[in-house]
This record gives sequence, C-alpha cells and structure tokens, in this order.
Amino acid sequence: MKPIGIFYGSTTGKTEIIAKKIKNQFTDTQIDIYNVRFASEKDLEKYDNIILGTSTWGKAELQKDFKDFLSILKKANLRGKKIAIFGVGDSSKYPVSFADSIGIVFEVLEGKGAIFVGEFSVKGYHFESSLSIFGDKFAGLPIDEDSECDLNKERISMWTDLLKLSLN
Ligand SMILES: Cc1cc2nc3c(=O)[nH]c(=O)nc-3n(C[C@H](O)[C@H](O)[C@H](O)COP(=O)(O)O)c2cc1C
Repeated sequence: MKPIGIFYGSTTGKTEIIAKKIKNQFTDTQIDIYNVRFASEKDLEKYDNIILGTSTWGKAELQKDFKDFLSILKKANLRGKKIAIFGVGDSSKYPVSFADSIGIVFEVLEGKGAIFVGEFSVKGYHFESSLSIFGDKFAGLPIDEDSECDLNKERISMWTDLLKLSLN
C-alpha cells in the first residue's frame, strides 16, 4: 500500500490518541501523522492516501485547529486521492450532534475530485442525530472516547480493515 498521511485536529488530546491507534493498525505501511496546526497544502499533496480526523465542539462545530485548516484543505489539489475521515465525539452528552465533524469535512471536500472511502455502519451507536449520516451510513468512522471507549478497539480494527481493502 502507498504511504498514508493522517491529519488530525485535537483540543484535549483524544483525537490525537485515536490517530496513533489508527496508525498502529497498519504495520506494513508508511504512515505519517500531522497535527493540522502545523500542516500545509504541500504536506497534504504528498499523499495518495489521506486520513482526516477531527472532534466536534458544539452542534455543527469543528475543533478549532481543524476549522482553521479547512482553508488549506479547500486550496489543496486532492484530485484522485483516496480520503477517509474519522470523527471523535460524545454520543451520551451530545446525542443530537454526535460526531458532526465527519459530515462537515465530507461536505467541504465533495466536488474536489477525491475518492471517499471508509463509510461506516450506524449499527451499535446510540444517538439522536448527526450531520455525518449520508444514506444509511456514517461518511467515516465515529469514535466516542468519552462514553463508549470500550468499543473503540473493535471499531478501529473494523474500520482499518475496510481501509486496507480500499486505499491505494
Ligand atoms: C463544549 C463541548 C462541546 C462539545 N460538543 C460536541 C458535539 O456537539 N458533538 C459531539 O459528538 N461531541 C461533542 N463534544 C465532545 C468532544 O468532541 C469530545 O470530548 C472529544 O473527545 C474531544 O476530542 P479532542 O480532545 O481531540 O478535541 C463536545 C465537548 C465539549 C467540551
């Protein structure tokens, strides 16, 4: 598999932890992790496989650094690249906007010629609404590090198995 760039935004460190856990699932592949606070358009364009991760901070609100990074994402040439998104949230405290971040990022990038991979089933999640559902699936992997952290190991493993079949 070609190298993967993981780009994350994290306020209290939870999304950063998940980014590292995702990296650990790919033992035979080069994976570089970037905090979006320090990442550029050039960093993004180096990869044919990109994983984007950000938490949600209020209804339809992205984590601050990732919000700032959107302008770079919009400018970058992402044509033909495979992109997977994960979102970190809390389904127990914020059930009406659970992991909205995935859907926000997805919509920003739609139409830029990237190929989205890593849709994930809603089965097993407990929430009322989310901007991240398209059709009957999440547009990426939601992770709840606050209320369902016991389920994360399995969710990450299922998702990365999917990515191993669909990334470049
Ligand atoms: C003020 C505040 C608002 C939040 N809003 C949401 C939300 O709307 N939806 C959600 O799923 N999680 C929400 N969360 C939960 C965070 O996304 C969650 O704690 C996440 O793990 C933080 O990740 P980070 O430390 O990587 O930024 C909120 C947390 C706080 C403190």
